[in-house]
Amino acid sequence: MTKYTVACIIKSNMDKYNFPEISLPPYYENEEQYVRLFHGDCLEILPEFTRNSIDMIFADPPYFLSNGGITCHAGRMVSVNKGAWDVSQGIEENHKFNLAWLSECQRVLTPNGTIWVSGTAHVIFSVGFAMQQLGFKILNDIIWFKPNASPNLSCRYFTHSTETVIWAAKNQRSKHTFNYELMKELGNGKQMRNLWEISPPQPKEKVHGKHPTQKPLALLDRIIQAATNEKDVVLDPFNGSGSTGIAALRLGRKYIGIELSKEYLDLTIKRLEDEFVNLRLQPVR
Ligand SMILES: C[S@@+](CC[C@H](N)C(=O)[O-])C[C@H]1O[C@@H](n2cnc3c(N)ncnc32)[C@H](O)[C@@H]1O
Repeated sequence: MTKYTVACIIKSNMDKYNFPEISLPPYYENEEQYVRLFHGDCLEILPEFTRNSIDMIFADPPYFLSNGGITCHAGRMVSVNKGAWDVSQGIEENHKFNLAWLSECQRVLTPNGTIWVSGTAHVIFSVGFAMQQLGFKILNDIIWFKPNASPNLSCRYFTHSTETVIWAAKNQRSKHTFNYELMKELGNGKQMRNLWEISPPQPKEKVHGKHPTQKPLALLDRIIQAATNEKDVVLDPFNGSGSTGIAALRLGRKYIGIELSKEYLDLTIKRLEDEFVNLRLQPVR
């Protein structure tokens, strides 16, 4: 065996090790593309993951805003309700939930790993406070500005047109990845600021079906490029329609998603398989 072969074997074993072994059976798996989806509650599934095994997490948790109110969508009055998973349990229970899943995320992050969490005023203060309680190191709060936000029907408030995305490292000792030069390039040669103007998902991102809170691929694309390198493992504990997974695989990262709803997992699988067939993604090796 040549030195080169040994190096390749060690590298390929490292790659496998780098895609965490999880004892639970996945709902869907594509080993060649390094993607695994798990069905169930992330509070039950995350404890099955080994500690220090995930390089980056994007979480778009319940915002707890499904309170029976109304909003405007595509010029029509519609309910704000997203599903039973988004109904508030009261501020204390909501905060306990945020502490519980964030604590598990912190455990599974590698020492230099980072987490990004999106939210509106309904949830983001609890997320930020929970992060402080758990000892995460908050790196940035990104303001995601949606240029074509729906009008406010009541005319008693400013029109909501932003979400916050908190970016945090596992703890104060973390030496997090930040692809500064790449971000500068994407910012037309200027240091990228924390105000990101990104439109909601394009219609072509919804051809396989809709998720009520689907995130645009452009947002995930920027987040993943900023904070990871090729072959890193990206996790989304609230997978939804799998936007994080699509963006991760397009960028040559590995992906693990957890989701309560089989309907949304099936939508994710359709989106993923479309990528594999139509875009001929190269296996992540
Ligand atoms: C805000 S949505 C995420 C949308 C996703 N970012 C996308 O682009 O499609 C939250 C998702 O988390 C799921 N969910 C809610 N509570 C969960 C839990 N405890 N464990 C796993 N999934 C959960 C919901 O079914 C929902 O699909």
